[in-house]
Amino acid sequence: MTKSTVRPIVIAANWKMHKLRGEAMEFLDELATYMDEHPQGLGSRVEVVVAPPFTSLELAVEHCPPHARIYSQNMHQDDHGAFTGEVSPAMLRDLGVDGVVLGHSERRQYFNEHDGALAEKVVAAAEFGLRPMLCVGETLEERQSGAAEDVVRRQLETALGDLDVIKATSSGLSIAYEPVWAIGTGETATPEIAQHLHAVIRDELASIFNVEIAERISVLYGGSVKPGNAGELLANVDIDGALVGGAALEVASFSGIIGAALDLVAATPSAGAR
Ligand code: 13P
Repeated sequence: MTKSTVRPIVIAANWKMHKLRGEAMEFLDELATYMDEHPQGLGSRVEVVVAPPFTSLELAVEHCPPHARIYSQNMHQDDHGAFTGEVSPAMLRDLGVDGVVLGHSERRQYFNEHDGALAEKVVAAAEFGLRPMLCVGETLEERQSGAAEDVVRRQLETALGDLDVIKATSSGLSIAYEPVWAIGTGETATPEIAQHLHAVIRDELASIFNVEIAERISVLYGGSVKPGNAGELLANVDIDGALVGGAALEVASFSGIIGAALDLVAATPSAGAR
């Protein structure tokens, strides 16, 4: 099977709880320079996303390189209310933020984020014009007990069950498969393991929505992605991008991953049909 030319490759930086505003600005200016120097394919076949912490979001929107998008790392599902410490979709839109990462395993693990609230967050993001990026993935224990596929299918089904079929594509929904055992551990899923789970995810998306929609939703891989392994991961038919933590903190390594995606699209004819 050849790689789809329907879906762009999305390379996303999740900064987690890193970078003061000055550091964020420096990174974005440097990234803009890299993107200016590599215009071929950027914005059309390869999309770049940066997800800074809340404190740098406004600045990131102002300094966003052309053709990149700024996502927040979380949000509350209500548009306002008595929820101390939370940030609403309306507030993010007010800042000019493009999208939101939802259900990251660190939020599930440390902050009790569960699939029920996520279902509401996905719908709220789509309603407010924020592109939802839903994270799913199994723990090491779940993988070792043979439950990885079931866990991921259930996470998708619960979190996406309330999303209107039309909104599944019009919202710019993407999925990030991040096996918990591969996050920040230096241990990457092999391209075979990742491709297999991505195919399972696409199959589940087809049963939640339909085959045509499943073909249009980008499924990113996350977990110790680096410039050295990005190319072999992205070359797989169902791996449509990377959600990057550690290697996205420096432009030198993040741009190496963008470069791997650009090399790949340069080698894949667009058939004029993208
Ligand atoms: P690392 O790239 O540091 O493993 O983090 C992955 C991740 O959690 C991105 O959201």
